[in-house]
Formats: sequence, C-alpha cells, structure tokens
Amino acid sequence: MCGIIASLMAGDQTVAVALEGLRRMEYRGYDSAGVACIPNLERTLEVEKKKGKVINLSSAVAGRPSFKDASVAVAHTRWATHGPPTDRNSHPHCSNDNKIAIVHNGIIENYQQLKEELQSVGYDFVSDTDSEILAVLIRHQQLQDPELPLEAAVSLALAECNGAWAVCVIDEANPDILVGARKGSPLILGRSRDGLMLASDATAVAGIADEVIYLEEDDVVTCTREPISGEYSYSIGSMADHHFSDYSSDSCESISSGTSSESKPSLESVTSEGMLGNRPIAARARSMKKLFRRSTSTPRVERSPVQLNMKVETIQKNGYKHFMLKEIMEQPKVLRECLRSRINEQTGFLQLPSLDNVMDRILAARRIIICACGTSWHSGLVGEYLIEGLGRIPVEVEYASEFRYRSPLLFKDDVVIVTSQSGETADTLEAIRIANKAGALTLGIVNVVGSSIARETSAVVYLQVGPEIGVASTKAFTGQVLVLTMLAVILGHRNGNITDAEALDYARQVQEIPDKVAEILTPENLASLKRLSASLRYAKNFLYLGRGFNFPVALESALKLKEVSYVHAEGYPAAEMKHGPISLIDQQMPVCVIAPKRHHEGNYEKVRSNIQEVVARSGNVIAITDEDGRADLATLAEHVMVVPSTAEWLSPLVSCIPLQLLSYWIADYRGCEIDSPRNLAKSVTVE
Ligand code: F6R
Repeated sequence: MCGIIASLMAGDQTVAVALEGLRRMEYRGYDSAGVACIPNLERTLEVEKKKGKVINLSSAVAGRPSFKDASVAVAHTRWATHGPPTDRNSHPHCSNDNKIAIVHNGIIENYQQLKEELQSVGYDFVSDTDSEILAVLIRHQQLQDPELPLEAAVSLALAECNGAWAVCVIDEANPDILVGARKGSPLILGRSRDGLMLASDATAVAGIADEVIYLEEDDVVTCTREPISGEYSYSIGSMADHHFSDYSSDSCESISSGTSSESKPSLESVTSEGMLGNRPIAARARSMKKLFRRSTSTPRVERSPVQLNMKVETIQKNGYKHFMLKEIMEQPKVLRECLRSRINEQTGFLQLPSLDNVMDRILAARRIIICACGTSWHSGLVGEYLIEGLGRIPVEVEYASEFRYRSPLLFKDDVVIVTSQSGETADTLEAIRIANKAGALTLGIVNVVGSSIARETSAVVYLQVGPEIGVASTKAFTGQVLVLTMLAVILGHRNGNITDAEALDYARQVQEIPDKVAEILTPENLASLKRLSASLRYAKNFLYLGRGFNFPVALESALKLKEVSYVHAEGYPAAEMKHGPISLIDQQMPVCVIAPKRHHEGNYEKVRSNIQEVVARSGNVIAITDEDGRADLATLAEHVMVVPSTAEWLSPLVSCIPLQLLSYWIADYRGCEIDSPRNLAKSVTVE
C-alpha cells in the first residue's frame, strides 16, 4: 500500500531509477504519483506530482532538464488513506520553505495533534494527509538547531510520531545525502556500483541493485555520496536508540544499539509514558536535541546484505496483456518451483525443511489457528479441510482483522499459521504479534522473502512462486494451497494417520499437480473460456457454489470476479443455496458450480442436486467438472468446463484455474483496469 523509492545515484540515473521503481511498484497504489529531486545544476528542490498513474508523472517530467540530471530523488505511488487522490495530497510532501521533501508509506496516528501544535507556532499545511507532518516536523528540528545532521532531524521528528512508517527524506542543503527510516512498513536498501536506493520492495530495484539489505524495525539509514571521490556509503542506526518511548526518567541508563553498551543520558524531562507530556513542541525539541547530541556517538547496527537474485523477467509482463493473465498462465511452472526441494530425494516423502526445527511442536499442538485476509484467508480455509482431514489436528480459521481485536483465547501449545502473499498485511502482522506475545508458535506461509511477516514468525515457508504483481492474487493462492497441502500430508504421516505407502502415493499425486494445471491451460480450453466470458460479460450478479474442499474455491472465485470486473458475486457452500440465495436465481443469474465427479462420489450427487435446483429456476449453470462428470452435467448445464480429475483434497488446485480465467476475461471484455482495479492496492499495510 503506497510504494516509495529514493535514489542517490549518478545524475542521469537518479530520477530514471526512481520512476522505473514506481512503475514496478504501481500495484501498491495508483491513485497518484510524485517525485522530488535536487538537480545538479540548480540545487533547488524540484517537485512534480500527478493524479493517476505513474505514466502521467513520467510524461510530466519527460524532457525537463532538472529531472534529467539530479543528485538525489524521492518518489511515491499512492493509495489514498488521508485525503482524496488529488495533486495536493500526493507525495512527496515538502516543508513550508521547500527545503525538505519526504515520501512516506504508513500512517502517522497522532498527526492531528502534531499538526495543531505546529500550526500554533506558525507552520502551514497544504494537504489533508498525515504524511505532510513529517516534512514540516523534520524542518522544524533543523530550524531549531541548524547544526543538526539530517539523520538526527529525521530521528527526532519520528520520535514525536506514533504509527507506522517507511520514509525517505532529502534536503536541499544536503544534496549528497539520503535518509530513510522504517517502523511497521517495509523498506529495503539497494546497493550497486552506481549508487544507493531505498524502496518499499525488492521488485523496484531488481536488475538495478546487486544486493539489498532488509531494514529492521526502527532502523534509520543514511546514504552518502562523498562529494570529491563520488564514492557511496551508508550507515544504519536504530531509532530505538533515540525513541523516547523506550526511556523513562529513572531507567535511562544507557543508550545503545544492538551492538553498543554506551551510556544513555539521564532525561529528567521524559515522562514514564515516553512522550514529553503536554509540553509544547519547541520545549520537546530542546529536550530531544539534548538527548540526540549525547547519542550521536552511538555505534551503528550491522545488517547483512543479501544478493538480489530476482530476475527482471519475473516482474515483466513478457508479452501478456496483463500481469494477472501472465500469473495465471505461469502456474504450472511456479507450482513446480513451489515443490522444489520439497520432495525428499532419498525417501520420496514430502518435506518442508524450514519447519524441521518446529515440527515436534506443531505435532503436539492443541490446535492450529490459521489467520489471514482476503484470498489468503480462502487458502487458509482450504488448509483447515486439509489439516483436519489429513493431519488430524483441530484447526480454526480466522480473519486476522477480527482475531486481533476480539481478545482471542490463546495457549502456549497453540500454533498460529498466517498465510500472506505480501508478508506485510497489517492485520495479519498484528495477529502474529498477539500470538507471539501469548507464547504460541507462529508460522508464516509467505511469498515475499524478507517481508515483515517472514521475519516476525518463528518459522517461515516461502511459496517460491515468484513476485506477484497483479493486484488480484492468483498464483499466490495456488502456492499457499500447495504448501498447506504438503504440510497436511507431512503432519498426517508424522502422526500416524497416513501410512508410509500412502505418504509416498500422496507425494506422487502432489507432484502431478503442475502438469494437471498445464492440461487446463491448452489453447482449446482458453478459447472456450474466452467465448464463455464474452457471453457472460453483461451479467450483473454471479453465484459460485462448491462443496467440501471446493467451498473455499467458490468464495475465492467470487472474490476474484468482484475485484477485477466490479461485478457482484457471492460464493456459497452448495448446500447452503436453498437457505437463502436461491431466491436470487433467475435467467439473468449465472451460477458457477464446482462439481468434480471422480473421487468425489459423496459430494458429486449432492452438488448435482443443487445444479438441478438452479436449472429448475431457469438459472444459467456453468459447471466445472472432470471427464467423468462431463456427459452427465452437459444435460443440465449451459456450459461444462472439464478439469483433470484429482483426489478430493487436491481438487482446489485445479478447480480454481478456469474460474481465475473466467474472472480475468470477463473483466477484460468489460474494459476494466485488471492489474490495477479501482480502490484496491496489493499490499494492505493499514488496518
Ligand atoms: C485478492 C487479494 C487480497 C489479498 C489480501 C491479503 O485477490 O489479493 O484479498 O489476498 O489483501 O494480502 P496478503 O496475502 O498479501 O496478506
């Protein structure tokens, strides 16, 4: 949610890299985009912002000399939270005198109070945003003490703020310096021979940076170019060193980063709550500067760089019209990747090596709670069916947003699994923190390497499906389901519910899934689904029905259609239809029913009855079935889509595929902005 990037590079690359980064991160928000830079020639801060997509911004700065040759730049693509998406509310935000520019991803919860205080001492605000406060506050620190280094001014300003941030700051007076800080929102530092970059995620700098550092909570990074030699360097300190909320007047013994044991100043003026009470901002600033001066000798913290191996083609459309289509089509390949190193070469059993150290604790769990949001919650529901069915451990599935606020009962022998593509969803992250605090074991099933959720869980299984750029999640859903499938089989095998012979057979069946998905994506099937989508494009409502393992697929498919095509859709357990939604059915209502037959004998007949009930009311049935069900359902349904047969517990991995495509093409026929649906953002980092 909101993408930020900043670059300290050679003149002609600075803004170009920032704009390229924005283009790649557009999925994080596309209400508006902006860039600020310090041109090498004029050395006065230049800002351009535009409502709408990054392309509008790129066109606005194209050919303008000040954006062609700049020493440092910050840029932002916005998903509006505070204030409508207008040029005025777009980032970067500047100080009143236009000396400081900032970009911010996150939320400043106490901005209203700070704004009033700053207004009372003469500052003006031009936007409705919470973020503008940062630019004004940083400049305020500098004006109080012109000797203050930029990093110190940023730290002091952030010490005043409650909330979450990834923030990048440039200062007209320091054109060779770029400062960034993170707390609660992701920020990475990218390094190449040509300079330094800060960005919300690694996709922004793939192919540009050679290695990245995933900044930690409370980190403040200062990137510097040596004016004479042109060499680049960076140093990282921890805001925890300067944050007043960590100190009380009688406990300020030492001020240290992770590696230091230096003395912390005694701070008579700091209240035990951390903030400096109701004292006016100027007085607080004086106290803070006193603290900061005494802490500037604080040793830096060490953060290890990692090679950035992300291939640029994984973040390109590679000839597809949209990322969503590309990501649907590449599922056979990425699901194979997801399985890589997860079949033991000696034994043939499934394995999830990253869980080895915690496996005994999982097996001894009183229950498993799966927490997630949106599509990831749907994969969690499939996980419930899988883990209870195969692993025989009780499972509850919770919306993270509900879980975190309802005082859940948690025990030390609970295991909390979170599923998340981005690894940054605010509610899911908070669910982990609650579970960690309660002493439960936390596991992450996450796509984005190094993300906050990956770092804050006790163990993590990465999806290995590559970056997902399309806002509508597709391959991350199947990747999550595949990981949960492997986990369920492993648990069932380890606790004796699955025999060795069955475990081998199950591993074989799991390995067949990528090929079965490929069988669905044939040119004939694609053409048939495309024709079907064309015929359904004007429908105003859809119903999706599924039973057992395919009930979550019905929910997921309805969500997929809603988000990309803006057509109303609902997913239901098939048997629930007659408890309400059946009253909606008429000739205008397409009903997509997931009804595989082979290996689904118990469910098939029941779902078939539901189809008959729809047909009896003139509903238009689209059936997803297998070869065994084809002829039978052709007598009832308007359209039959055949997928390969699988065991019941594997069927979500194939049944969801044609329904993903149906959503995609209906949206395409309706002329929707598929990769950037209105009002949505890929990574929901605010609650
Ligand atoms: C739907 C979709 C969202 C996400 C949800 C959770 O296509 O993408 O519903 O699934 O916002 O996001 P993650 O998985 O990143 O935690």
